[in-house]
Amino acid sequence: MVFKTVQTTPIKGQKPGTSGLRKKTAVFREPGYLENFVQCIFDGTGGAAGKTYVIGGDGRFFNTQAIGVIIRMAAANGAARLIVGQDGILSTPAASNLIRKNQTDGGIILSASHNPGGENGDFGIKFNAPNGGPAPEKITDAIFAKTLEITEYKIAEQEPEDIGRAGSFTVGDCRIDVVDPVGDYETLMQELFDFDAIGTLFAGGFRICFDAMHAVTGPYATRILEGTLGAPKGSVINAVPSPDFGGGHPDPNPVWASELVAIMNGDDAPDFGAASDGDGDRNMVMGKGTFISPSDSLALLTAYAHLAPAYSGKLAGVARSMPTSQAVDLVAVRLGIPCFETPTGWKFFGNLLDAGKATLCGEESAGTGSNHIREKDGLWAVLLWLNILARDGRDIVQLQSDHWRSFGRNYYSRHDYEEIPTEAAEALMAALRGRLADLPGTVVAGLEVSTADDFAYRDPIDQSLTEAQGVRIGFTDGSRVVMRLSGTGTQGATLRVYLERFVDRSGDHTQDVQAALAPVIAAAETLADITKHTGRSSADVIT
Ligand code: G6P
Ligand code: ZN
Repeated sequence: MVFKTVQTTPIKGQKPGTSGLRKKTAVFREPGYLENFVQCIFDGTGGAAGKTYVIGGDGRFFNTQAIGVIIRMAAANGAARLIVGQDGILSTPAASNLIRKNQTDGGIILSASHNPGGENGDFGIKFNAPNGGPAPEKITDAIFAKTLEITEYKIAEQEPEDIGRAGSFTVGDCRIDVVDPVGDYETLMQELFDFDAIGTLFAGGFRICFDAMHAVTGPYATRILEGTLGAPKGSVINAVPSPDFGGGHPDPNPVWASELVAIMNGDDAPDFGAASDGDGDRNMVMGKGTFISPSDSLALLTAYAHLAPAYSGKLAGVARSMPTSQAVDLVAVRLGIPCFETPTGWKFFGNLLDAGKATLCGEESAGTGSNHIREKDGLWAVLLWLNILARDGRDIVQLQSDHWRSFGRNYYSRHDYEEIPTEAAEALMAALRGRLADLPGTVVAGLEVSTADDFAYRDPIDQSLTEAQGVRIGFTDGSRVVMRLSGTGTQGATLRVYLERFVDRSGDHTQDVQAALAPVIAAAETLADITKHTGRSSADVIT
């Protein structure tokens, strides 16, 4: 085996965002782009010599080529062993599980999550730490620092063997184990949930539609739901991963998962609908004719998690990202457990999970998960829901309305303004930040501001401080507006406006969400002059 050292120079813009380095696929295919970044992952984490990594991706265009490069580079950098998903496939949660189970030195996951794929789509690469979770900022900062000073990378000259078959081969002294992507993940799910109860539910005629959106969860959902649990064949739709996700956005929300929404709103709707994203960490759940918002899903899962074997004891705590609705906070109060509020990004849950302070975590961005791994987990959320429905007996729509009757309803929506010029987005946020100190006590579009700040988070475990994570404006009636710029886009800036209004348990829980939020929407416009700054009179995507 011949290893070579290739001279290179730093490439601008290789700064990992909320979830790794994400760029247009064409950028990743530029000479040296991927190689530089992979070398910096190794160099920024103390070198690859003697180490073991998990490698896999969501199957999008360029996935297998990128994995070939990573195998050659890991071997040339002295790695001892690589655990690679067969055909290059590993969902993000399955990769997290393999990292933990094999106690590896981390993993490299190829995905741009819910962003479209293909030659003209997006590609991404992220490093996960030995705890199985997304690298914390001190690691991504170290990797980024290396990208600014890189002079060479190491790579094996020869293409590696085919990763389409399970089995082992070597590249130099590095052993490559190609593994079934689903096996260990399914074992973990069986340990957590009451598979017998879920199997009985399906045997009794319960119907599910799981939309894998042509992405990575297809093989997982087909084997677990239709295979092991006995859901009827055809319960999983769009089940074969495709390099461009069938031309769509593999983003499980009512806008992009419109096929599922149409099925769930149809005359012959199944009892339960669900979808997952490109790399399998996000989830959306639905009942007949009803979308369950991710924030409500987190609150409901927290309230009923005790019905699943793994969560039958008292939960240590729950955590949500700051823009996620406060519905789960109310459940935490009733359960007598702490509720942590973290910045956006799953990595901020890592310390809480490692320290045993939180059992369940969730985000408005369609992510829910627990201490079973260190990533959010789409299929896990679906299985926890199925476990709850199997043991509780009510249907999901009834369960939700009973929940609101008991706790009140946090009406919630997110308005996204996509691909706006970065300067315009930054000017909007700067102007808003400049007004914060003067806002409390003023009345905006009929709502009185009670609090206004720029969210900063002091990690309770390592005391690290993360600032400027988004503007929060609270009103005296309990409503809230949060605004921040997305950290995952690849073009221009995306302004996210998160809107929330609380209606107590005796109030009307049956209103149209946008109508219920109308006063809060008006307040957001007045506060931030969104139309003036963005030139848009309405949001591009409303979820
Ligand atoms: C990724 C992360 C999530 C995070 C989301 C936010 O999906 O894994 O933890 O909530 O990005 O994305 P945004 O575009 O709002 O920064
Ligand atoms: Zn994802």
